[in-house]
Amino acid sequence: MDKIVITGGRKLKGEVAISGAKNSALPIIAASLLSEEESVIENVPDLRDIQTMLRLLRALGAKAQYENGTVTVKPGKNLNPVAPYKLVSTMRASVCVMGPLLARMGQAEVSIPGGCIIGPRPIDLHIKGLEALGAQVEIQHGYVNARAPKKLRGADIFLGGSFGSSVLATGNVMMAAVLAQGKTTIENAACEPEVVDLARFLKKMGAKIIGEGSPILEIEGVKKLRGIRFAVIPDRIEAGTYLFAAAMTGGDVLIKKTEPAHTHAVADKLRQSGVRIDKGKMTLRVRRNGRLKPVDVTTLPYPGFPTDLQAQMMALMSITPGISVITEKIYPDRFMHVSELNRMGSKIFLEGNSAIVHGVKRLSGAPVMASDLRASAALVLAALVAEGTTEVHRVYHLDRGYEKLETKFSFLGASIHRERE
Ligand code: EPZ
Repeated sequence: MDKIVITGGRKLKGEVAISGAKNSALPIIAASLLSEEESVIENVPDLRDIQTMLRLLRALGAKAQYENGTVTVKPGKNLNPVAPYKLVSTMRASVCVMGPLLARMGQAEVSIPGGCIIGPRPIDLHIKGLEALGAQVEIQHGYVNARAPKKLRGADIFLGGSFGSSVLATGNVMMAAVLAQGKTTIENAACEPEVVDLARFLKKMGAKIIGEGSPILEIEGVKKLRGIRFAVIPDRIEAGTYLFAAAMTGGDVLIKKTEPAHTHAVADKLRQSGVRIDKGKMTLRVRRNGRLKPVDVTTLPYPGFPTDLQAQMMALMSITPGISVITEKIYPDRFMHVSELNRMGSKIFLEGNSAIVHGVKRLSGAPVMASDLRASAALVLAALVAEGTTEVHRVYHLDRGYEKLETKFSFLGASIHRERE
């Protein structure tokens, strides 16, 4: 296993290019199963989760390969409808093959992904949506067995849960509905840019969808889809992570190949914190000279502040004079980073689904343990400003979602490298 070793105290300066969005690429790769023909997907980051998705597609009988940021998928005529536990248990996004398999093969047997370190992660909305389209769903031996003896039929579906809309449930139901007979309306659809990107991919394949980016999606089923060439959007969570890094270190960084429109909520909070952010066409320049100011943040579905940047925001709050409060409304238990940040000298107290952060003058480097992808990113950010050296263990979490992390931070002037343990 590798560890990342960071010595804090350097201001980040320079330029960094953002990779393609992991959370856009994963469902899009799954969606390529909806056609027999070959699809070519570009701007795909070189990440462990992408490799897992490709392994899953191969297990389903598709040809799938990755080369230099480009994924090529050739599903062919017949697919094996079983997504095995071994793969699904290592990556929850595997659940997005359910919609395409059901639509193409009339059958999907997908291992139930189960919860994860960020809390319980049910799939009731996925099942509700697919049942509304006419699938018969049974849970047996840890698998969701979905069957559509007759062709799926369009339906009116409300996809809201206790925590609002669901990104992957919207994707799954949309992917099933594009090949269903007749019209489907999804209400309370997720509006995240990754859902819009998936809709764009499906439309290019020949699907009829209107309303992407709004809470109401209207889908008119078509008989067949074609293989296409497509490039995924830039990763807004990676961009946000570099925004925080530059802001925390008091640096001056130009973030390139990014979509500023996808980071409004984050830029707004950073500006309130005393950080200067200038938008360009596909760039964001982030600078800070003065003191950070405390702010309160609540995570919400898009266009609200994303849960996937909550941990990174908390790292910034840790060194912001005064008291800041962060409330987690998507995953109320997503606070595994708190104890590790506190080991580095942060003063964070948990109160239900809120964290009260008392800013401290300095953090101190320590050996810390990554628990999930975004928690690990928060530890890296804290390490960049901490006194002394931090070792972040269990780096495989970071490798799931951040392409070339050490290289990108090194280019910006950070003292960071990877070591074999
Ligand atoms: C996606 O997960 C992302 N993953 C997550 O990113 C992200 O945190 C999450 O959306 C929220 O933005 C991918 O895109 C691969 P949800 P998803 O369904 O779709 C509840 C990262 O760090 N819910 O939108 O699985 C759920 O428990 C990851 O990159 C139900 O109740 O999340 C949560 O409270 C982690 N029933 C809320 O909805 C369901 O059937 C939103 O979750 C499904 C979800």
